Amino acid sequence: MELLTEIPVRRVTYSRIQEVNFNRLEFGKYVSDHMLVCDYDHGSWHTPHILPYSNLSLSPSTLALHYGQTVFEGMKAFRMEDGRINIFRAERHHERFVRSLDRMCMPAVPRHIFIEGLQQLVKLDKAWVPFQPASLYIRPFMFATETTFGVKVSDEYRFIVFTAPVPALFNEPIKVKVETEYIRAAKGGTGFAKCGGNYGGSLYATQKAKAEGYDQVLWTDAHQNKYIEESGFMNVMFVLDDVLVTPPVSDSILDGITRDSLLTLAKELDIKTEERPVSINELQNAFERGKITEAFGTGTAAVVAPIKTIGINGNDLHLPAYNADSVMNKLKHELESIRLGVTDDRHGWNYVL
Ligand SMILES: Cc1ncc(COP(=O)(O)O)c(C=O)c1O
Repeated sequence: MELLTEIPVRRVTYSRIQEVNFNRLEFGKYVSDHMLVCDYDHGSWHTPHILPYSNLSLSPSTLALHYGQTVFEGMKAFRMEDGRINIFRAERHHERFVRSLDRMCMPAVPRHIFIEGLQQLVKLDKAWVPFQPASLYIRPFMFATETTFGVKVSDEYRFIVFTAPVPALFNEPIKVKVETEYIRAAKGGTGFAKCGGNYGGSLYATQKAKAEGYDQVLWTDAHQNKYIEESGFMNVMFVLDDVLVTPPVSDSILDGITRDSLLTLAKELDIKTEERPVSINELQNAFERGKITEAFGTGTAAVVAPIKTIGINGNDLHLPAYNADSVMNKLKHELESIRLGVTDDRHGWNYVL
């Protein structure tokens, strides 16, 4: 691996960490002291810098503000039982970031800038990494910075990483609505990429579902509105006839790293898994026959988000209560044990600092 020398750092003169109540964290409320910034222009990357977290100054004609060339990642660092810190599956997040960038005609951030940048940033702000089940959320993102207001592929970009202590999320089971009017992603579109537009475009249907008393939507395919794709901003899994079933990743479904991790662990725990399309009809039949026992979202923010109710065409179908023996909770426990360092990290997922 091409190693960077120490990244130049301008430290804060005053740390904001005293302002954080680590017993009452809220997602998105606090950010750590420093951020990593690296600019791209004339076909090459500049030297990254670590700076105090601060506002940006942008021209109103900055391209990203108009035409949406923005891509992000969402990943986490964990404090292990022995006090060391690991960044979970950093390599895989980098690979996905590069795939997203490619789809948006944006240059790849080199692996050494991404991985070592994260590593040095998290090390510098290590006091901000809370004890599990809380964690340090890491937000790498990149946007087009060229200042011109004609539609074009930008020639200039900024890559930034900031971090934030966050609590464990979604402990309460949620109510989801199968969405058949609005879509998140279509074949040939950008659904597999973590580009900003996918999220902006999802808000309307989500707001409508919330107004109807649901917490999130279950997206269906854009072609027939027949097959389940994702759960809000997460992948989705079902336990149908004792088999863990999840829709296959495609160009309209994000290749979730939690999804991949849980499928890997399920196979090791001798839980039968299937990656195949799941139709609304199949779900309805499974409810009628009492063959659906679990449904849950999977993602970095929550690991698993249990679903208690699925609304299909105005009909609310209820799942049985979950307990420690639920497939979802067994998988979550196994994943958390690896992150804590109490179970062997046999897949090399923990990037220990
Ligand atoms: C649309 C979407 N699907 C799925 C996921 C889950 O992916 P991961 O497990 O890598 O967090 C996310 C979150 O990153 C997401 O935004």
